[in-house]
Amino acid sequence: MASNNTCLSWGILGAARIARRKVMPAFMAAPNNRVVALASRERATAESGIREALEQAAERGVVPRAQPRAVEGYASLLQDPEVDAVYIPLPNHLHLDWALKALEAGKHVLLEKPAVLDGKQARKLAAAAARYPALQVAEGFMFRHHPQWAEVLDWVRQGRLGTLRSATVQFSFFSEDPNNIRNKAETGGGALLDIGCYAIAAGRLIFGGAPERVRATLETHNGIDRQVRAEMHFPQPGGQTARLHVQCDIGSAYFQRLDLHGEDGRVVLERPFNPWPHEPVAPLLYDRYGKALDQAEAVATDHFILQAEAFAAAVLDGAPLDFGVPDLVAQADVMDAVRFSAQADAWAIQPKAASQSSGTSAPRPVPKPLHPDHGRMV
Ligand SMILES: NC(=O)c1ccc[n+]([C@@H]2O[C@H](COP(=O)([O-])OP(=O)(O)OC[C@H]3O[C@@H](n4cnc5c(N)ncnc54)[C@H](OP(=O)(O)O)[C@@H]3O)[C@@H](O)[C@H]2O)c1
Repeated sequence: MASNNTCLSWGILGAARIARRKVMPAFMAAPNNRVVALASRERATAESGIREALEQAAERGVVPRAQPRAVEGYASLLQDPEVDAVYIPLPNHLHLDWALKALEAGKHVLLEKPAVLDGKQARKLAAAAARYPALQVAEGFMFRHHPQWAEVLDWVRQGRLGTLRSATVQFSFFSEDPNNIRNKAETGGGALLDIGCYAIAAGRLIFGGAPERVRATLETHNGIDRQVRAEMHFPQPGGQTARLHVQCDIGSAYFQRLDLHGEDGRVVLERPFNPWPHEPVAPLLYDRYGKALDQAEAVATDHFILQAEAFAAAVLDGAPLDFGVPDLVAQADVMDAVRFSAQADAWAIQPKAASQSSGTSAPRPVPKPLHPDHGRMV
């Protein structure tokens, strides 16, 4: 293992846009991280990908701690002894396969979202991860590391919203390029896997655990879902239920927003998922009557850097990883429930015991998949 206990050495699988423009520059900027290699199917693509990532880093005033090497072929990178951890920003259908290979090669794994396509894949990954307990595995939902979310969760914990009633998550953008991985079924495209997963991860973060009921519709075109609409019921303390309303669309104008309602107050996040690093954002808190009560201090930060730091701290210092394997399994199960419900045109119902599990990586039983329950409309 190449890590010197102060710096995590990353290898990147694929010169993906997200890697070149966001994640590699963040690894270069994060204090305890460095990028040592980028692998592409073609060496020339790796070389140009490195150039672009270095330019992006330079624009932010970042001086990298290493000069990344261009590697031809993902398998070659996995054999590189200098690489401690692998970041996988491949098309979604390739995530599981390369995560399994990376674990076998002794590398920690950070997977781009969605880590896997479904619950079955999640369990395969969980079984492999269990064979390598010294290796960290996480799904890269970077937004969870942004301080605006810590603020919202603090307000919830302090009871400033009272009993939670509902959250509405909207996320949309327009994508029509038939060559884009999002618009092809064979590369794991579609609105659910691309952006619906954010809404689900947000709901699980706010309400905790897993939804006990899911009702969803998927509008499908050319074999992929373009729009996800869903309602999910999350059990809350005292026998209450909080509802998550999801509207995600890869075929309409750009928008994102989260509205969280409690009995005593509500919170608005105007940019819940991908605020720019230089864009100050802050949640707004309103009281029961609609009067603005509080606004957290606006923070402009790069959540990809914070994600890198958290992952490196888990590897280098043994810090707890908030969003490890159990979390990605729980996440995949909810995506399965969405598909189940949409196909069956019925509510998908979670077995009671499984819905109690928490959304974090604390030890707990892996929840069973949800199943559609025809005729039990709620
Ligand atoms: N967290 C975020 O904010 C965020 C944002 C965007 C995307 N993502 C996630 O990141 C991943 C990549 O998204 P992206 O938009 O960056 O994708 P992209 O630019 O299309 O990159 C995907 C990379 O995968 C490699 N690849 C291997 N087999 C391929 C195939 N059959 N077809 C296409 N590419 C193939 C290519 O790299 P080489 O040619 O170098 O081998 C390609 O550059 C997805 O899982 C997506 O959900 C996350």
